[in-house]
Amino acid sequence: MSIKDLADCHLDHVAIVVEDLEKACKIYEDMGIHFLPEREVVEDQGVKTAFAPVDDRANIELLEPYGEDGPIHQYLAKKGPGIHHLCFRVKDVKAKGEELSAKGYRLLYPEPKIGAHNCLVNFIHPKSTGGVLIEISQKGEH
Ligand code: CO
Repeated sequence: MSIKDLADCHLDHVAIVVEDLEKACKIYEDMGIHFLPEREVVEDQGVKTAFAPVDDRANIELLEPYGEDGPIHQYLAKKGPGIHHLCFRVKDVKAKGEELSAKGYRLLYPEPKIGAHNCLVNFIHPKSTGGVLIEISQKGEH
């Protein structure tokens, strides 16, 4: 891996599943983290999210189940609240997904999907990463 590759990938967010978005925000606010006022619903994923910058690149993303059912509802019911995934920002999520897939990593989606903040995202199954769900994300057009 070259230095250029490292520069092309950085931690974008740590996502945490919560039961109550506003109560959870308060916990991180108490740590000195400030959440953006907007709450975003991602219908496709069945979540409502709150975002807080930690530094100039990394964020905390809180995920509250939204709607009838979805992966986050199931996660919360099965495992309870806690850290859900890490997200790395990459330049080209499709190319990175194909590269990882060729190396034997199991991707959740055959093609990238639209995630929060209009980003293009895919996920790598925790079975191929030593137990951590990893999201790869490409900045969307704004
Ligand atoms: Co995420």
